[in-house]
Amino acid sequence: MDYPQLLSPVLNFLHCTTPQAWLDKARDPANLPLLLTDHLVCELKAAQTALLLVRKYVADKQGADALLAWLQPYEDFAFRDGPEPDFAALNRQISKSVMPVTDDPWGQALISSMVLLIKEELHHFWQVREAMEARAIPYVKITASRYGKGMLKEVRTHEPLTLIDKLICSAYIEARSCERFAALAPYLDADLQKFYLSLLRSEARHYQDYLALAQQVSSEDISDRVRYFGEVEAGLILAPDAEFRFHSGVPA
Ligand SMILES: [Fe+2]
Ligand SMILES: [Fe+2]
Repeated sequence: MDYPQLLSPVLNFLHCTTPQAWLDKARDPANLPLLLTDHLVCELKAAQTALLLVRKYVADKQGADALLAWLQPYEDFAFRDGPEPDFAALNRQISKSVMPVTDDPWGQALISSMVLLIKEELHHFWQVREAMEARAIPYVKITASRYGKGMLKEVRTHEPLTLIDKLICSAYIEARSCERFAALAPYLDADLQKFYLSLLRSEARHYQDYLALAQQVSSEDISDRVRYFGEVEAGLILAPDAEFRFHSGVPA
C-alpha cells in the first residue's frame, strides 16, 4: 500500500500535523489503555454520526429504524453498561443486511456513502475491541474530549447551513484520525502498527465522502467554510489540553 499517496491529500486538507508532544504522550505504554478505549468509542461515535444524518435527512423510516437496530448492541455495551455482545456475529449480520432507499439523488448518495461508512466503523470498533482484549485492557467508560464539541459549537443553526457545517466537521474528524493513525503507527508494537496502517485507506475515503456530500448540498462554493473549520480544528489540536484523548490537543 502506498501510504504517502493516501496521506498527501489528508495532510493538504488539515491545517497542521499532530504535535510531537502528543505523540510522545501517546507512545507511552502507560497511556495505551486510555488511547485504545477512546479510539474504540470514537469508532462508535463515527457510526452514530453517520446514522443520525441518514435518519434526519432521508425519509424511509423502515430503513432508518433498521440502521438504529444495528447500533443498539454497541451503544448498550459502550454507554449503558450492557453485556458485551458477540461482535464477530453482529458484523456478519450487518454486512448481509439491506440499506434504506430514496428517490432523491442526493439522499441516495448520502445513504450509499453513510451505510458503507457505518459498516466500516463498526468493523473498526470490533477490531479495536479485539486489540484491547489481546492486551488484557478492560473496557471502562471515559469522558469525551473537547475536540468534537469544540467544532460542533461553530455549526450554524439553520438549514441547509447546519447540514453543510456538520458534514465539513465530520470530514475534519475523519482526516485527523487518518493523520494520527499514520503518525502514531511507527511508535506502536508490530500488531497495532499493522492495524493502524490498515485503517488509513477507509478513513481517507471517509473524509472525502463527507466533503463531497457537503459540496453537493450547497449551492455555493464551500471553500471558505472548509477553510474556517480547518482553522478551528487546528486551533483545538495546537492548544494545550488538560485531558489526553485520541483527538486531544497539546498535553498540558
Ligand atoms: Fe474508523
Ligand atoms: Fe471513519
